[in-house]
Amino acid sequence: MHLEVRPQIALTEIRPADKPALLEHLAAREIYENTLRIPYPYTEDDADQWLAMVAQSTREHGRPVHWAIRQNERLIGCCGFDHLALGRSHRAEIGYWLAEPYWGRGIVTAVVGKLCEHAFGPWGLGKLSAYVFADNAASARVLEKCGFAQEGYLRRHFFKDGRFLDARLFARLAESLRR
Ligand SMILES: CC(C)(COP(=O)(O)OP(=O)(O)OC[C@H]1O[C@@H](n2cnc3c(N)ncnc32)[C@H](O)[C@@H]1OP(=O)(O)O)[C@@H](O)C(=O)NCCC(=O)NCCS
Repeated sequence: MHLEVRPQIALTEIRPADKPALLEHLAAREIYENTLRIPYPYTEDDADQWLAMVAQSTREHGRPVHWAIRQNERLIGCCGFDHLALGRSHRAEIGYWLAEPYWGRGIVTAVVGKLCEHAFGPWGLGKLSAYVFADNAASARVLEKCGFAQEGYLRRHFFKDGRFLDARLFARLAESLRR
């Protein structure tokens, strides 16, 4: 699996050898603060569990559904699909994070564009959704630039660090739906 995003940036399978990069990038609290399932502080055990989960989900789906965002082969972020059930559901949810030194260069906008191309093209999905914490303007902007529209403002939708968080639900529809 190798999806070219733009020169030097590609999406490929996540590998056990990515563990040091995961530990380095996820030591940053900013990623934790804007996501739901990434622990902080991020430990070796967390990385091992995530890598095992990714390997299991690859086996279950018969293909990788979580991908490394790589710059010149080095993992600089991750993206992927949740609730993917190809052939049984037309919908899936996307998620993504990028290491802080690479923010603001249009990388995730290009990555989400590629995820849409793949999901609506070869996979034939009809709808992609994404949940964004209400204060995450950068992620909302990425989705808007990629043709997603806000479908709802979800009050107290998530619970994190002892408080309820509002969220925005975004979605993009495929131009044509095959089934
Ligand atoms: C959100 C995130 C994925 C963005 O990745 P990125 O590669 O920096 O995004 P891009 O450079 O493609 O686009 C970012 C856009 O947000 C805008 N932006 C950045 N910070 C912003 C802010 N505080 N308020 C409003 N817009 C902001 C940028 O200006 C840019 O829009 P523009 O092209 O119109 O100028 C990245 O910052 C990240 O991983 N954050 C932590 C984890 C996370 O939030 N994951 C998503 C969970 S839903």
